Amino acid sequence: MTPIQTVLGLETSCDETAAAVVRRHDDGRAEVLSSIVGSQIAAHAPYGGVVPEIAARAHVESIDAIAEAALREAGLGYGDLTGVAATAGPGLVGGVMVGLSFGKAVALARGLPLVAVNHLEGHAVSARLGADIGYPFLLLLVSGGHCQLLEVAGVGACRRLGTTLDDAAGEAFDKIAKAMGLPYPGGPALEALAEGGDPGQFTLPRMLLGRKDCDFSFSGLKTAAARLAEGVSDPTARRDLAACVQAAIAGQLAEKSARAMQAYAPDHAGAGLRFVVAGGVAANRAVRAALQTVAHANGFSFAAPPLAYCTDNAAMIALAGAERLALGLTDGMDAIARPRWPLDQIAAAAHPMHPAGRKGAKA
Ligand code: KG4
Ligand code: ZN
Repeated sequence: MTPIQTVLGLETSCDETAAAVVRRHDDGRAEVLSSIVGSQIAAHAPYGGVVPEIAARAHVESIDAIAEAALREAGLGYGDLTGVAATAGPGLVGGVMVGLSFGKAVALARGLPLVAVNHLEGHAVSARLGADIGYPFLLLLVSGGHCQLLEVAGVGACRRLGTTLDDAAGEAFDKIAKAMGLPYPGGPALEALAEGGDPGQFTLPRMLLGRKDCDFSFSGLKTAAARLAEGVSDPTARRDLAACVQAAIAGQLAEKSARAMQAYAPDHAGAGLRFVVAGGVAANRAVRAALQTVAHANGFSFAAPPLAYCTDNAAMIALAGAERLALGLTDGMDAIARPRWPLDQIAAAAHPMHPAGRKGAKA
């Protein structure tokens, strides 16, 4: 049995400044003692998207108070922690540096082990915050920056089965919403507009139909939807278009997930077939429903994190850190903030979204 871990998690990779305390019990169960998320939406809304400089400054201004609030809500002090976990990438590097530096300072001052967590690994474990979901599982990670299918056998053991060739699903939601004049962030706004709409009133292109792999593509859909949006002003038609966009994105996610299930099932039937969706887009009800249907049709159980842990939060970073600590995996004070950091480095190198070079694969 590994000892109980009580970890302060810090998340600053995009436009949320977040801190949380999570306890991992020796049987592997996770308990969220506190989770504070300070959103910067109001600061970025006038620009229609996240402005990296504004984000970095806002993280600096609030990280201290948010970490204090997380400890206070947990009823603990720094002396009760067994470790500190901070997102070290991928993300907007100015923001990542703020959280990672803060984590290093706490670790140094208190003599605690530091874990430099990959933000994607945080999303990968996030469903375990709400339910006791065992490893391994097949994961669809759908957020603003990422759209990947992964085999997850535990922290540090993710194998990528597919990724997007262009935009992430969340990015497609955001960009189409923007083209329709909806406020930032676009995903939730588009979901609200789609309520009661008829998805059959418009036709949008279905991508990569002939391909047998598990890769995604949303750029054709995005362009087609943005063009249609220009000619649609009637409120009912706008609602129908939003419903059509949502159905097209959900449909592609479900179709590629089904393909991944068929590839995953033969090797994992003995361990139990589990399908998990995580990331901001997992908050979308139409997406969840479409995925649940294909999971059950393919003999998989279906799980998604509680809504609060779909979008960016620090509880998932604390849990990834606690699971790493339980395995004895820690990082030194030389851990760096990484704008790009693929979870499955081998797959990313073999199939780069961004060609090899100074920047390397993003995710
Ligand atoms: O995981 P997340 O908070 O941040 C990243 O790591 O990227 O995901 C944010 C993304 C945004 O693109 C946002 O529009 C999308 O998740 N999102 C949604 C919904 N809630 C958040 N997309 C569709 N429907 C939603 N309800
Ligand atoms: Zn995220």
